Amino acid sequence: MGLSTPTRRHFLQTSTAGLAASGLAAQDRVDKKISPNDRIRVALIGAGGMGTGDAESSQEVPGVELVAVSDIYQGRLIRAKERWGNQLFTTRDYREVLARRDIDAVLIATPDHWHSQISIDAMEAAKDVYCEKPMVQRVDDGRAVVEAQRKTGRIMQVGSQRVSSIVYEKARELLQAGAIGELNMVEAWWDRNNAIGAWEYSIPPDATPQNIDWDRFLGRAPRVPFEPARLFRWRNYRDYGTGVAGDLFVHLFSGMHFVTGAHGPTRVFATGGLRFWKDGRDVPDVFLGLYDYPATDRHPAFNLALRVNFVSGAGESSGFRFVGSEGVMTIAGGVTVSKTPRETEPGYTIDTFPKAVQAEFLAGYEKKYPPRRPSADSLRPEEQEQYLPPRHYSDHLDHHRNFIAAVRSRQPLVEDPVFGFRAAGPALLSNVSYFEQRVCKWDPESMTLLS
Ligand SMILES: NC(=O)c1ccc[n+]([C@@H]2O[C@H](COP(=O)([O-])OP(=O)(O)OC[C@H]3O[C@@H](n4cnc5c(N)ncnc54)[C@H](O)[C@@H]3O)[C@@H](O)[C@H]2O)c1
Repeated sequence: MGLSTPTRRHFLQTSTAGLAASGLAAQDRVDKKISPNDRIRVALIGAGGMGTGDAESSQEVPGVELVAVSDIYQGRLIRAKERWGNQLFTTRDYREVLARRDIDAVLIATPDHWHSQISIDAMEAAKDVYCEKPMVQRVDDGRAVVEAQRKTGRIMQVGSQRVSSIVYEKARELLQAGAIGELNMVEAWWDRNNAIGAWEYSIPPDATPQNIDWDRFLGRAPRVPFEPARLFRWRNYRDYGTGVAGDLFVHLFSGMHFVTGAHGPTRVFATGGLRFWKDGRDVPDVFLGLYDYPATDRHPAFNLALRVNFVSGAGESSGFRFVGSEGVMTIAGGVTVSKTPRETEPGYTIDTFPKAVQAEFLAGYEKKYPPRRPSADSLRPEEQEQYLPPRHYSDHLDHHRNFIAAVRSRQPLVEDPVFGFRAAGPALLSNVSYFEQRVCKWDPESMTLLS
């Protein structure tokens, strides 16, 4: 997608009735109608690793133009112009991006502690929002984001791309069609064994107070002296990140909720420890969570077990196992359904009984299950079906396509703030459970921490 000069025609329509009484800021009163042929002008806020990926995927969607980038580290603004052209508007202050009337949507890829504030500010400034996962850093932040979206009517999508994946869609279809019988358990894991996988990202040699707006990075976090590792390795600190639960469990919750239709667990318990990456971080590198999902009209009762291990000697792997009464569905790259039919008779364990008792037992057993000579017809198949996506398939691109489609159509999308909060909530409560050493009770319908 080229970066041509602005050619879009926006139909700006100001609705006065009703809105005048609503007390919304002047800019909120602008009801933008975007025709299918209009260009969508997006801005990126937070131009690090994922923000760069989001901006790239977004620009692959036809009709999208990247016009502005905000970051608090000057090096990333320079890099943005190197990558996407000198015409970009760049600023260290994201509010300057929100003040621009020519921007339709923002991609928010800052550290987690900024997500809720920038999302709310953006929607109140009449921008549509693609915000990276986890939607919020603290459970307490969730309601305000949900409310802001409802109040402003903006499109907001959270960036857990599995929700737009054809692989997860296939898994959902298979589960709903009864491919594994009745679901009773879900296991998911994410194992790694290298420094970058464990968040030890490079710190640039020009990380100086002149090149970094330190106060704006800290935001609502406690004031601490300038320390580049806190910015470039922010995941390692609870002040800015959300540990492995907010970073990785949240993807697993999002994917699993999409496949099962679940809204969330009612009980959350997590444990783990810091075992290897003792680089000053204050979050665990081995982490396990257990979750209760009682029966609802969308799914039977099941339990969820999640694991992240950054010290896994066998290297990186991640996936899901949906365990059902008639089979197991695995998601790892593609979807695989494996079935081993249950034995048609229960069998027996009589060898340790006295001989006479064995004979009596056998007589009874054979009466109930008469011995039959095995025939070809009686052989039952061990089934394995595999569904693989096309070689270069990108769920991330599909997620951005879905976002831009919703920006154009103004129709609701799947991973809205309610979905995002229902995935973030139990992930963040896993941290509460771990750090406070307790079981948390959660109401997934009202999205409230009960105790
Ligand atoms: N969807 C996914 O698969 C996926 C993958 C990786 C990261 N993420 C998410 O993306 C977000 C960013 O992660 P990352 O790995 O790109 O981190 P990163 O550190 O590479 O990038 C974050 C950027 O935000 C900037 N920043 C910090 N405070 C800011 C502010 N107030 N205003 C503007 N910019 C600010 C930083 O300078 C940095 O350039 C995180 O929330 C993370 O959870 C999602």
